[in-house]
Amino acid sequence: MSSVVVAGSFNVDHVWRCDALPAPGATIAGRYSTGPGGKGFNQAVAACRSGAATTFVCALGDDAGGALARQLAAADGLALVPESSDEPTGTAGIYVDNRGRNSIVIGAGANASLSPAFIEANRALLGSAKVVLAQLESPAESVEAVLGIAREAGVMTVLNPAPANAPSSIGLLKLADVMTPNETEFAALLGRHVGERVEADDVAALDGARLHALCRLLSGNTVVVTLGAVGVFVSHDEDTLRGDTQPYYRVAAEPVQVVDTTGAGDAFNGALASSLAQAPQAPFATHVRFANQYAARSTESEGAALAMPRLTPAQA
Ligand code: RIB
Repeated sequence: MSSVVVAGSFNVDHVWRCDALPAPGATIAGRYSTGPGGKGFNQAVAACRSGAATTFVCALGDDAGGALARQLAAADGLALVPESSDEPTGTAGIYVDNRGRNSIVIGAGANASLSPAFIEANRALLGSAKVVLAQLESPAESVEAVLGIAREAGVMTVLNPAPANAPSSIGLLKLADVMTPNETEFAALLGRHVGERVEADDVAALDGARLHALCRLLSGNTVVVTLGAVGVFVSHDEDTLRGDTQPYYRVAAEPVQVVDTTGAGDAFNGALASSLAQAPQAPFATHVRFANQYAARSTESEGAALAMPRLTPAQA
C-alpha cells in the first residue's frame, strides 16, 4: 500500500545552461543536457526518496520518453500507474542562468491525455493513500477527480497550483486540505479567483497579518506560500491548526549554494507529502521545516527529478 499517491505530469526535460536567460530575438550559447522532469514526476521522486512508499499516476506516450519514466521509476522503487497515450510523452525546454534561475516551456503531449476515467479506474488506489498530491500540469477535470476521490475517502489532499497560468476553479482549490502556491502562483490565484491585485514580487515582503488575510480569501484550509530565498509562509484556518500553535507564521530559508532551482518547489511538495504521510500526528510546522530543508538541498545539484536528495537507498 502506498502512503503517498502523486498524480500528474512526466516530461523529458531539455536543458540549456547559459550565463543569462535569452532575451526576445537573441541567439546565445548554452551547455545542453537532458533528464527526467515534469512537476508530477519530480514530486513523486521527492516523496519516494524522502522515505514514503509512493505511487505515481500519469500518462505516457509509447516512445523513448515513456520508457525512460518506467526505467527511472523502477530504479527508485516508485510504483508507476501510467495511462497509455497516442501522444508523445511530455517535454519541457528549460533555460537555467548562472544564478540558478530558470525559464520553462512545456509541450504537454501525453500529459494532456490523463483522463478522469483513468483516475476513476484508480479510485481504490487513491482512497487507500495517506496523502494524495496533485499539480496543474494535467487536465483540470482530472486533477479535480483525483482530489475529489481522495476527499470522499477521507485522505489528506495537497494541491500544488503550478504552473501559475494553468486554469483552475475555486471549486478545485476547495478540494485541497493544503495548497502550496509559490509567490507567482499565489498572486495569479488572488487575481483570478478573488479579484485581489498583488504583485508577485511584493508577496514576500507583505506583513504577516496581511498575507494571512489574503490566504484566507483564497482557501478555507491550510495555505503554504513558498517564497524561494525568503523561505515559506504558513496560514491555517483558526479552527484547524494541524498541531501548530499559531494560525500563521514564517519559516526561514535554509542557507545553500544554489546551482539550479529547477524542481525546488517540486522537492518541497514531495517532501511535505512524504512527511505528512509518515508522521501524521506531528505538528504541521515539523513537516514544513523538513520540506524546506529537503527543497534547499535539491537546489545544490543540477537537474529536476535527478536532483532530489536520496534519504533512502536506491532499489537497484
Ligand atoms: O517544476 C519543474 C518542472 O517543470 C520541470 O521538470 C519541467 O518538466 C516542468 O514541468
